Amino acid sequence: MTTSGTSPQDGPSWTTAWELLLPAAGAPARGRGRALQSALRESVRSGRLAAGTRLPSSRELAADLGVSRGLVTEAYEQLTAEGYLRSDRGAGTWVGDAARAGARAARDLAPRASGARVDFRPGTPDLSLFPRAAWAASHKSVLARLPHRALGYPDPRGLPELRTALASLLVRRRGVVADPERLLVCSGVAQAMTLLGFVLHGHRLRTIGVEDPGSPQHGPLLAAAGLGETPLPLDDDGLAMEPLHRSGVRAVVTTPAHQFPSGIAYSAQRRTELLDWARSVDGLVVEDDYDGDFRYDRAPVGALQGLDPERVAYSGSVSKSLAPGLRLGWLLVPERLADEVVERKRTMDLGNPSLDQALLADFIDGGGYDRQLRRCQRAYRERRDALVGALDEHFPGTEVSGIAAGLHAIARLPGRFGPEPRFLESAQRAGIALRALAEHGTARYADSAVRLVLGYAHLTPSDIARGIGLLARETQGGGPAAH
Ligand SMILES: Cc1ncc(COP(=O)(O)O)c(C=O)c1O
Repeated sequence: MTTSGTSPQDGPSWTTAWELLLPAAGAPARGRGRALQSALRESVRSGRLAAGTRLPSSRELAADLGVSRGLVTEAYEQLTAEGYLRSDRGAGTWVGDAARAGARAARDLAPRASGARVDFRPGTPDLSLFPRAAWAASHKSVLARLPHRALGYPDPRGLPELRTALASLLVRRRGVVADPERLLVCSGVAQAMTLLGFVLHGHRLRTIGVEDPGSPQHGPLLAAAGLGETPLPLDDDGLAMEPLHRSGVRAVVTTPAHQFPSGIAYSAQRRTELLDWARSVDGLVVEDDYDGDFRYDRAPVGALQGLDPERVAYSGSVSKSLAPGLRLGWLLVPERLADEVVERKRTMDLGNPSLDQALLADFIDGGGYDRQLRRCQRAYRERRDALVGALDEHFPGTEVSGIAAGLHAIARLPGRFGPEPRFLESAQRAGIALRALAEHGTARYADSAVRLVLGYAHLTPSDIARGIGLLARETQGGGPAAH
Protein backbone atom coordinates (compact mmCIF):
# COMPACT_ATOMS: atom_id res chain seq x y z
CA MET A 1 0.00 0.00 0.00
CA THR A 2 1.02 3.58 -0.63
CA THR A 3 2.67 5.42 2.21
CA SER A 4 3.33 8.65 0.40
CA GLY A 5 2.86 12.09 1.91
CA THR A 6 4.24 13.30 5.18
CA SER A 7 2.33 16.42 6.10
CA PRO A 8 -1.19 16.54 7.53
CA GLN A 9 -2.25 18.71 4.56
CA ASP A 10 -1.69 15.71 2.37
CA GLY A 11 -4.76 14.17 3.96
CA PRO A 12 -5.08 10.57 4.92
CA SER A 13 -3.07 9.12 2.01
CA TRP A 14 -0.25 7.99 4.25
CA THR A 15 -2.52 5.92 6.41
CA THR A 16 -5.44 5.08 4.16
CA ALA A 17 -5.64 1.57 2.83
CA TRP A 18 -6.79 2.54 -0.64
CA GLU A 19 -7.69 -1.02 -1.43
CA LEU A 20 -10.22 -0.93 1.43
CA LEU A 21 -11.59 2.48 0.49
CA LEU A 22 -11.85 1.66 -3.19
CA PRO A 23 -12.50 -2.06 -3.53
CA ALA A 24 -12.38 -1.85 -7.33
CA ALA A 25 -9.95 -4.67 -7.74
CA GLY A 26 -12.59 -7.12 -6.56
CA ALA A 27 -15.06 -6.13 -9.31
CA PRO A 28 -15.33 -8.23 -12.47
CA ALA A 29 -12.84 -7.07 -15.11
CA ARG A 30 -15.52 -5.49 -17.34
CA GLY A 31 -17.10 -3.34 -14.64
CA ARG A 32 -13.91 -2.46 -12.83
CA GLY A 33 -13.55 1.07 -14.21
CA ARG A 34 -17.11 2.00 -13.27
CA ALA A 35 -16.74 0.37 -9.83
CA LEU A 36 -13.63 2.41 -9.17
CA GLN A 37 -15.34 5.64 -10.19
CA SER A 38 -18.39 5.05 -8.07
CA ALA A 39 -16.36 3.98 -5.03
CA LEU A 40 -14.24 7.11 -5.35
CA ARG A 41 -17.33 9.30 -5.78
CA GLU A 42 -19.00 7.72 -2.75
CA SER A 43 -15.89 8.17 -0.61
CA VAL A 44 -15.85 11.86 -1.45
CA ARG A 45 -19.59 12.32 -0.98
CA SER A 46 -19.65 10.61 2.39
CA GLY A 47 -16.72 12.68 3.63
CA ARG A 48 -14.45 9.67 4.12
CA LEU A 49 -12.15 11.47 1.71
CA ALA A 50 -12.27 15.03 2.96
CA ALA A 51 -11.91 18.12 0.78
CA GLY A 52 -8.24 18.88 0.29
CA THR A 53 -7.10 15.25 0.62
CA ARG A 54 -4.33 14.54 -1.81
CA LEU A 55 -4.80 11.38 -3.86
CA PRO A 56 -1.92 9.09 -4.78
CA SER A 57 -0.50 9.31 -8.28
CA SER A 58 -2.35 7.20 -10.83
CA ARG A 59 0.64 4.87 -10.98
CA GLU A 60 0.74 4.35 -7.22
CA LEU A 61 -3.00 3.85 -6.88
CA ALA A 62 -3.08 1.43 -9.81
CA ALA A 63 -0.31 -0.60 -8.12
CA ASP A 64 -2.13 -0.57 -4.77
CA LEU A 65 -5.42 -1.65 -6.28
CA GLY A 66 -3.96 -4.09 -8.75
CA VAL A 67 -5.67 -2.42 -11.73
CA SER A 68 -4.31 -0.83 -14.86
CA ARG A 69 -3.04 2.72 -14.67
CA GLY A 70 -5.38 3.71 -17.51
CA LEU A 71 -8.37 2.84 -15.36
CA VAL A 72 -7.20 5.13 -12.58
CA THR A 73 -6.41 7.98 -14.98
CA GLU A 74 -9.86 7.64 -16.47
CA ALA A 75 -11.49 7.68 -13.02
CA TYR A 76 -9.53 10.79 -12.00
CA GLU A 77 -10.51 12.56 -15.22
CA GLN A 78 -14.17 11.65 -14.91
CA LEU A 79 -14.41 12.77 -11.26
CA THR A 80 -12.50 15.94 -12.02
CA ALA A 81 -15.03 16.71 -14.75
CA GLU A 82 -17.83 16.11 -12.22
CA GLY A 83 -16.22 18.48 -9.71
CA TYR A 84 -15.40 15.87 -7.07
CA LEU A 85 -11.66 16.14 -7.70
CA ARG A 86 -9.35 18.87 -8.90
CA SER A 87 -6.04 18.25 -10.53
CA ASP A 88 -3.07 20.34 -11.22
CA ARG A 89 -1.14 18.89 -14.09
CA GLY A 90 2.15 17.59 -12.87
CA ALA A 91 1.45 18.52 -9.21
CA GLY A 92 -1.22 16.00 -8.27
CA THR A 93 -4.90 15.35 -7.69
CA TRP A 94 -6.97 16.48 -4.68
CA VAL A 95 -10.46 16.04 -3.40
CA GLY A 96 -12.26 19.20 -4.51
CA ASP A 97 -13.98 21.81 -2.37
CA ALA A 98 -17.35 20.96 -3.90
CA ALA A 99 -17.19 17.81 -1.78
CA ARG A 100 -17.53 19.93 1.34
CA ALA A 101 -21.24 20.49 0.95
CA GLY A 102 -21.93 16.78 1.11
CA ALA A 103 -19.55 16.14 3.98
CA ARG A 104 -20.92 19.00 6.07
CA ALA A 105 -24.08 17.19 7.13
CA ALA A 106 -22.08 14.71 9.16
CA ARG A 107 -19.64 17.19 10.61
CA ASP A 108 -22.28 19.68 11.70
CA LEU A 109 -23.53 17.24 14.31
CA ALA A 110 -20.65 18.18 16.56
CA PRO A 111 -21.72 21.02 18.84
CA ARG A 112 -19.73 24.13 18.05
CA ALA A 113 -18.79 27.12 20.09
CA SER A 114 -21.47 29.75 19.57
CA GLY A 115 -18.99 32.51 18.85
CA ALA A 116 -21.00 34.66 21.25
CA ARG A 117 -19.22 37.07 23.59
CA VAL A 118 -21.18 35.59 26.47
CA ASP A 119 -23.32 32.48 26.02
CA PHE A 120 -26.12 32.17 28.59
CA ARG A 121 -27.74 29.13 27.01
CA PRO A 122 -28.34 26.42 29.61
CA GLY A 123 -27.17 22.83 29.75
CA THR A 124 -23.44 22.88 30.43
CA PRO A 125 -21.54 22.75 33.70
CA ASP A 126 -18.17 24.48 34.06
CA LEU A 127 -15.91 22.06 32.24
CA SER A 128 -12.82 23.76 33.67
CA LEU A 129 -13.86 22.40 37.08
CA PHE A 130 -13.31 18.84 35.88
CA PRO A 131 -11.05 17.27 38.55
CA ARG A 132 -8.19 16.38 36.22
CA ALA A 133 -5.59 15.62 38.88
CA ALA A 134 -7.86 13.36 40.93
CA TRP A 135 -9.11 11.67 37.77
CA ALA A 136 -5.55 11.03 36.63
CA ALA A 137 -4.71 9.56 40.06
CA SER A 138 -7.72 7.23 39.81
CA HIS A 139 -6.63 6.27 36.31
CA LYS A 140 -3.20 5.32 37.52
CA SER A 141 -4.40 3.35 40.50
CA VAL A 142 -7.14 1.55 38.52
CA LEU A 143 -4.74 0.50 35.77
CA ALA A 144 -2.27 -0.77 38.33
CA ARG A 145 -4.74 -3.07 40.04
CA LEU A 146 -7.36 -3.97 37.44
CA PRO A 147 -7.16 -7.71 36.69
CA HIS A 148 -6.79 -8.66 33.01
CA ARG A 149 -10.24 -10.25 33.00
CA ALA A 150 -11.80 -6.86 33.79
CA LEU A 151 -10.76 -5.73 30.32
CA GLY A 152 -12.92 -8.38 28.68
CA TYR A 153 -16.54 -7.80 27.66
CA PRO A 154 -18.24 -6.27 30.70
CA ASP A 155 -21.53 -7.28 32.26
CA PRO A 156 -23.97 -5.25 30.13
CA ARG A 157 -25.41 -3.83 33.35
CA GLY A 158 -22.01 -2.35 34.19
CA LEU A 159 -19.00 -3.28 36.33
CA PRO A 160 -20.13 -4.64 39.70
CA GLU A 161 -17.90 -2.20 41.59
CA LEU A 162 -19.44 0.78 39.81
CA ARG A 163 -22.98 -0.47 40.31
CA THR A 164 -22.25 -0.90 44.02
CA ALA A 165 -20.62 2.54 44.31
CA LEU A 166 -23.47 4.24 42.43
CA ALA A 167 -26.19 2.44 44.36
CA SER A 168 -24.82 3.59 47.69
CA LEU A 169 -24.23 7.13 46.35
CA LEU A 170 -27.80 7.39 45.06
CA VAL A 171 -29.33 5.98 48.23
CA ARG A 172 -27.32 8.43 50.30
CA ARG A 173 -27.60 11.56 48.18
CA ARG A 174 -30.91 11.16 46.37
CA GLY A 175 -33.04 8.90 48.54
CA VAL A 176 -33.35 6.40 45.74
CA VAL A 177 -34.12 2.71 46.36
CA ALA A 178 -31.14 1.18 44.59
CA ASP A 179 -30.09 -2.45 44.49
CA PRO A 180 -26.75 -2.80 42.65
CA GLU A 181 -28.18 -5.88 40.92
CA ARG A 182 -30.92 -3.77 39.40
CA LEU A 183 -28.87 -0.72 38.51
CA LEU A 184 -27.79 -0.34 34.90
CA VAL A 185 -24.81 1.78 33.85
CA CYS A 186 -25.50 3.52 30.55
CA SER A 187 -24.31 6.38 28.35
CA GLY A 188 -26.06 9.22 30.11
CA VAL A 189 -29.72 10.02 30.62
CA ALA A 190 -29.91 10.13 26.83
CA GLN A 191 -29.27 6.41 26.47
CA ALA A 192 -31.53 5.65 29.43
CA MET A 193 -34.37 7.38 27.54
CA THR A 194 -33.63 5.45 24.37
CA LEU A 195 -33.46 2.11 26.20
CA LEU A 196 -36.74 2.79 28.00
CA GLY A 197 -38.30 4.01 24.79
CA PHE A 198 -37.54 0.73 23.02
CA VAL A 199 -38.76 -1.36 25.94
CA LEU A 200 -42.00 0.64 26.28
CA HIS A 201 -42.52 0.41 22.53
CA GLY A 202 -42.23 -3.36 22.94
CA HIS A 203 -45.06 -3.08 25.49
CA ARG A 204 -47.22 -1.52 22.75
CA LEU A 205 -46.85 2.07 23.94
CA ARG A 206 -46.85 4.47 21.01
CA THR A 207 -46.85 7.80 22.80
CA ILE A 208 -45.39 9.12 26.03
CA GLY A 209 -46.21 12.26 27.97
CA VAL A 210 -43.55 14.97 28.25
CA GLU A 211 -43.49 18.15 30.29
CA ASP A 212 -44.44 21.33 28.44
CA PRO A 213 -42.29 23.40 28.75
CA GLY A 214 -39.70 20.66 28.91
CA SER A 215 -36.34 19.39 27.82
CA PRO A 216 -35.57 19.45 24.10
CA GLN A 217 -33.62 16.22 24.65
CA HIS A 218 -36.48 13.89 25.55
CA GLY A 219 -38.66 14.04 22.43
CA PRO A 220 -36.06 13.12 19.79
CA LEU A 221 -34.59 10.35 21.96
CA LEU A 222 -37.98 8.75 22.46
CA ALA A 223 -38.87 9.30 18.81
CA ALA A 224 -35.78 7.28 17.86
CA ALA A 225 -37.43 4.37 19.67
CA GLY A 226 -40.70 4.91 17.80
CA LEU A 227 -42.60 6.79 20.52
CA GLY A 228 -44.50 9.99 19.85
CA GLU A 229 -44.64 12.67 22.54
CA THR A 230 -47.74 14.13 24.14
CA PRO A 231 -46.90 17.56 25.63
CA LEU A 232 -48.52 18.02 29.04
CA PRO A 233 -48.82 21.39 30.79
CA LEU A 234 -47.44 22.26 34.21
CA ASP A 235 -48.87 24.21 37.08
CA ASP A 236 -47.12 25.56 40.18
CA ASP A 237 -46.84 22.07 41.73
CA GLY A 238 -45.52 20.17 38.74
CA LEU A 239 -47.21 18.31 35.92
CA ALA A 240 -50.90 19.33 35.95
CA MET A 241 -52.96 16.28 36.88
CA GLU A 242 -56.20 16.88 35.06
CA PRO A 243 -54.66 17.09 31.55
CA LEU A 244 -52.52 14.05 32.41
CA HIS A 245 -55.62 11.99 33.30
CA ARG A 246 -57.37 13.17 30.14
CA SER A 247 -54.40 12.49 27.87
CA GLY A 248 -54.70 8.72 27.90
CA VAL A 249 -50.90 8.24 28.11
CA ARG A 250 -49.54 5.49 30.35
CA ALA A 251 -46.01 6.76 30.72
CA VAL A 252 -44.66 10.23 31.33
CA VAL A 253 -41.17 11.76 31.47
CA THR A 254 -40.66 14.17 34.35
CA THR A 255 -37.93 16.23 36.04
CA PRO A 256 -39.43 16.47 39.56
CA ALA A 257 -36.40 17.61 41.58
CA HIS A 258 -35.81 20.69 39.40
CA GLN A 259 -38.18 20.87 36.49
CA PHE A 260 -36.44 21.62 33.22
CA PRO A 261 -36.63 24.43 32.34
CA SER A 262 -39.04 26.13 34.81
CA GLY A 263 -36.94 25.18 37.86
CA ILE A 264 -39.87 24.29 40.11
CA ALA A 265 -39.62 21.33 42.49
CA TYR A 266 -42.71 19.11 42.35
CA SER A 267 -44.71 19.56 45.56
CA ALA A 268 -45.13 16.63 47.95
CA GLN A 269 -48.80 16.46 47.08
CA ARG A 270 -48.15 16.39 43.34
CA ARG A 271 -45.64 13.60 43.79
CA THR A 272 -48.27 11.52 45.56
CA GLU A 273 -50.88 12.33 42.91
CA LEU A 274 -48.49 11.40 40.13
CA LEU A 275 -47.74 8.03 41.68
CA ASP A 276 -51.47 7.42 42.29
CA TRP A 277 -52.05 8.15 38.62
CA ALA A 278 -49.29 5.71 37.59
CA ARG A 279 -50.85 2.95 39.72
CA SER A 280 -54.35 3.68 38.39
CA VAL A 281 -53.30 3.26 34.73
CA ASP A 282 -50.73 0.52 35.40
CA GLY A 283 -48.27 3.06 34.05
CA LEU A 284 -44.77 4.38 34.53
CA VAL A 285 -43.24 7.68 35.59
CA VAL A 286 -39.81 8.25 34.07
CA GLU A 287 -37.73 10.45 36.37
CA ASP A 288 -34.89 12.43 34.76
CA ASP A 289 -32.78 13.56 37.71
CA TYR A 290 -30.42 15.52 35.44
CA ASP A 291 -29.17 18.09 37.97
CA GLY A 292 -30.55 16.81 41.27
CA ASP A 293 -27.13 17.06 42.90
CA PHE A 294 -27.10 20.83 42.94
CA ARG A 295 -29.17 22.67 45.47
CA TYR A 296 -28.29 25.91 47.20
CA ASP A 297 -30.76 27.19 49.71
CA ARG A 298 -33.51 24.68 50.00
CA ALA A 299 -33.80 21.32 51.73
CA PRO A 300 -32.84 18.40 49.54
CA VAL A 301 -35.67 17.16 47.38
CA GLY A 302 -35.34 13.39 47.27
CA ALA A 303 -35.97 11.43 44.13
CA LEU A 304 -39.54 10.44 43.32
CA GLN A 305 -38.32 6.88 42.73
CA GLY A 306 -37.72 6.47 46.47
CA LEU A 307 -41.48 6.71 47.05
CA ASP A 308 -42.44 3.90 44.69
CA PRO A 309 -39.61 2.10 42.86
CA GLU A 310 -42.09 -0.16 41.06
CA ARG A 311 -43.80 2.80 39.37
CA VAL A 312 -40.78 4.98 38.62
CA ALA A 313 -37.83 4.51 36.27
CA TYR A 314 -35.02 6.69 37.59
CA SER A 315 -32.11 8.07 35.57
CA GLY A 316 -29.22 10.44 36.12
CA SER A 317 -25.67 10.97 34.93
CA VAL A 318 -22.35 12.62 35.64
CA SER A 319 -22.96 15.10 32.81
CA LYS A 320 -23.61 18.03 35.15
CA SER A 321 -21.38 16.97 38.05
CA LEU A 322 -18.26 15.95 36.08
CA ALA A 323 -18.54 16.31 32.31
CA PRO A 324 -21.08 15.38 29.63
CA GLY A 325 -18.26 14.07 27.45
CA LEU A 326 -17.78 11.12 29.81
CA ARG A 327 -21.15 9.78 28.65
CA LEU A 328 -21.74 7.94 31.90
CA GLY A 329 -25.08 7.62 33.58
CA TRP A 330 -27.41 5.17 35.27
CA LEU A 331 -30.88 3.78 35.07
CA LEU A 332 -33.00 2.02 37.69
CA VAL A 333 -36.22 0.46 36.49
CA PRO A 334 -39.10 -1.44 38.11
CA GLU A 335 -38.45 -5.14 38.39
CA ARG A 336 -40.95 -6.02 35.67
CA LEU A 337 -38.87 -4.11 33.08
CA ALA A 338 -35.38 -4.91 34.35
CA ASP A 339 -34.51 -7.91 32.18
CA GLU A 340 -35.78 -6.29 29.00
CA VAL A 341 -33.81 -3.12 29.63
CA VAL A 342 -30.60 -5.08 30.23
CA GLU A 343 -31.19 -7.13 27.09
CA ARG A 344 -31.70 -3.91 25.10
CA LYS A 345 -28.48 -2.50 26.49
CA ARG A 346 -26.66 -5.71 25.58
CA THR A 347 -27.87 -5.71 21.99
CA MET A 348 -27.24 -1.97 21.67
CA ASP A 349 -23.57 -1.85 22.65
CA LEU A 350 -22.58 -4.79 24.92
CA GLY A 351 -22.10 -2.38 27.80
CA ASN A 352 -20.16 0.78 28.59
CA PRO A 353 -16.34 0.88 28.42
CA SER A 354 -14.92 -0.99 31.43
CA LEU A 355 -12.00 1.28 32.10
CA ASP A 356 -14.18 4.40 32.36
CA GLN A 357 -16.50 2.54 34.69
CA ALA A 358 -13.67 1.33 36.91
CA LEU A 359 -12.35 4.88 37.05
CA LEU A 360 -15.66 6.35 38.13
CA ALA A 361 -16.06 3.63 40.77
CA ASP A 362 -12.62 4.42 42.17
CA PHE A 363 -13.34 8.15 42.09
CA ILE A 364 -16.61 7.71 44.00
CA ASP A 365 -15.17 5.23 46.51
CA GLY A 366 -12.20 7.51 47.22
CA GLY A 367 -14.50 10.44 48.08
CA GLY A 368 -13.61 12.36 44.91
CA TYR A 369 -17.20 12.59 43.71
CA ASP A 370 -18.46 14.13 46.94
CA ARG A 371 -15.57 16.60 46.94
CA GLN A 372 -16.35 17.53 43.35
CA LEU A 373 -20.00 18.16 44.16
CA ARG A 374 -19.08 20.38 47.11
CA ARG A 375 -16.65 22.33 44.97
CA CYS A 376 -19.13 22.82 42.13
CA GLN A 377 -21.91 23.65 44.55
CA ARG A 378 -19.85 26.49 46.02
CA ALA A 379 -18.87 27.84 42.60
CA TYR A 380 -22.38 27.61 41.16
CA ARG A 381 -24.03 29.26 44.12
CA GLU A 382 -21.67 32.20 43.71
CA ARG A 383 -22.50 32.39 40.00
CA ARG A 384 -26.21 32.18 40.63
CA ASP A 385 -25.89 35.08 43.08
CA ALA A 386 -23.87 37.01 40.51
CA LEU A 387 -26.64 36.50 37.95
CA VAL A 388 -29.40 37.58 40.32
CA GLY A 389 -27.34 40.63 41.32
CA ALA A 390 -26.58 41.65 37.73
CA LEU A 391 -30.23 41.31 36.68
CA ASP A 392 -31.27 43.36 39.66
CA GLU A 393 -28.80 46.07 38.74
CA HIS A 394 -29.41 46.24 34.99
CA PHE A 395 -32.98 44.97 34.62
CA PRO A 396 -34.70 46.11 37.81
CA GLY A 397 -37.99 44.43 38.56
CA THR A 398 -37.00 41.16 36.90
CA GLU A 399 -38.60 38.09 38.49
CA VAL A 400 -36.01 35.35 38.81
CA SER A 401 -37.27 31.86 39.62
CA GLY A 402 -36.03 28.28 39.82
CA ILE A 403 -32.86 29.43 41.51
CA ALA A 404 -32.85 27.20 44.60
CA ALA A 405 -31.18 24.41 42.67
CA GLY A 406 -29.61 23.44 39.39
CA LEU A 407 -27.48 25.20 36.81
CA HIS A 408 -29.91 27.68 35.29
CA ALA A 409 -32.59 30.19 36.25
CA ILE A 410 -35.72 31.61 34.66
CA ALA A 411 -35.88 35.37 34.31
CA ARG A 412 -39.08 37.22 33.46
CA LEU A 413 -38.19 40.78 32.59
CA PRO A 414 -40.68 43.60 33.25
CA GLY A 415 -42.92 44.35 30.27
CA ARG A 416 -41.03 47.55 29.36
CA PHE A 417 -38.06 45.46 28.12
CA GLY A 418 -40.22 43.60 25.60
CA PRO A 419 -41.42 42.62 23.16
CA GLU A 420 -39.33 39.49 23.19
CA PRO A 421 -38.43 39.23 19.47
CA ARG A 422 -36.95 42.74 19.53
CA PHE A 423 -35.08 42.01 22.75
CA LEU A 424 -33.59 38.81 21.31
CA GLU A 425 -32.49 40.63 18.17
CA SER A 426 -30.70 43.25 20.26
CA ALA A 427 -29.03 40.51 22.31
CA GLN A 428 -27.76 38.90 19.15
CA ARG A 429 -26.34 42.22 18.00
CA ALA A 430 -24.52 42.51 21.33
CA GLY A 431 -23.07 39.02 20.89
CA ILE A 432 -25.03 37.57 23.81
CA ALA A 433 -26.44 34.09 23.20
CA LEU A 434 -29.80 33.61 24.91
CA ARG A 435 -32.48 30.94 25.11
CA ALA A 436 -36.09 32.09 25.32
CA LEU A 437 -38.42 30.04 27.52
CA ALA A 438 -40.83 29.90 24.57
CA GLU A 439 -38.34 27.68 22.73
CA HIS A 440 -38.97 24.93 25.28
CA GLY A 441 -42.49 23.96 24.45
CA THR A 442 -45.84 24.88 23.03
CA ALA A 443 -47.01 27.01 25.98
CA ARG A 444 -47.75 30.60 24.97
CA TYR A 445 -47.90 33.41 27.48
CA ALA A 446 -50.56 36.02 27.96
CA ASP A 447 -48.15 38.94 27.73
CA SER A 448 -45.15 39.73 25.54
CA ALA A 449 -42.69 39.94 28.45
CA VAL A 450 -39.20 38.60 27.83
CA ARG A 451 -38.80 35.16 29.49
CA LEU A 452 -35.33 33.67 29.43
CA VAL A 453 -33.74 30.40 30.52
CA LEU A 454 -30.35 31.59 31.71
CA GLY A 455 -27.56 29.08 32.23
CA TYR A 456 -25.00 30.43 34.69
CA ALA A 457 -22.94 27.47 35.94
CA HIS A 458 -20.46 27.53 33.04
CA LEU A 459 -19.78 31.29 33.37
CA THR A 460 -17.56 33.05 35.86
CA PRO A 461 -19.15 35.78 38.00
CA SER A 462 -17.29 38.41 35.96
CA ASP A 463 -18.51 36.93 32.65
CA ILE A 464 -22.03 36.99 34.03
CA ALA A 465 -21.74 40.63 35.10
CA ARG A 466 -20.19 41.59 31.75
CA GLY A 467 -22.82 39.66 29.76
CA ILE A 468 -25.78 41.18 31.55
CA GLY A 469 -24.17 44.62 31.34
CA LEU A 470 -23.68 44.28 27.56
CA LEU A 471 -27.23 43.06 27.22
CA ALA A 472 -28.54 46.08 29.10
CA ARG A 473 -26.50 48.49 27.00
CA GLU A 474 -27.71 47.06 23.71
CA THR A 475 -31.35 46.53 24.68
CA GLN A 476 -31.78 49.80 26.55
CA GLY A 477 -29.38 51.92 24.62
CA GLY A 478 -27.51 52.96 27.74
CA GLY A 479 -26.95 52.12 31.38
CA PRO A 480 -29.39 50.65 33.86
CA ALA A 481 -33.04 51.21 33.07
CA ALA A 482 -34.98 53.66 35.16
CA HIS A 483 -37.49 52.17 37.55
C1 LIG B 1 -33.19 17.84 31.21
C2 LIG B 1 -32.08 17.05 30.59
N1 LIG B 1 -32.16 15.73 30.57
C3 LIG B 1 -31.20 14.97 29.99
C4 LIG B 1 -30.09 15.53 29.39
C5 LIG B 1 -29.07 14.63 28.76
O1 LIG B 1 -28.18 14.24 29.69
P1 LIG B 1 -27.04 13.16 29.53
O2 LIG B 1 -25.80 13.90 29.18
O3 LIG B 1 -26.99 12.53 30.86
O4 LIG B 1 -27.42 12.20 28.46
C6 LIG B 1 -29.94 16.90 29.42
C7 LIG B 1 -28.76 17.51 28.79
O5 LIG B 1 -28.51 18.68 28.87
C8 LIG B 1 -30.95 17.68 30.04
O6 LIG B 1 -30.86 19.02 30.08
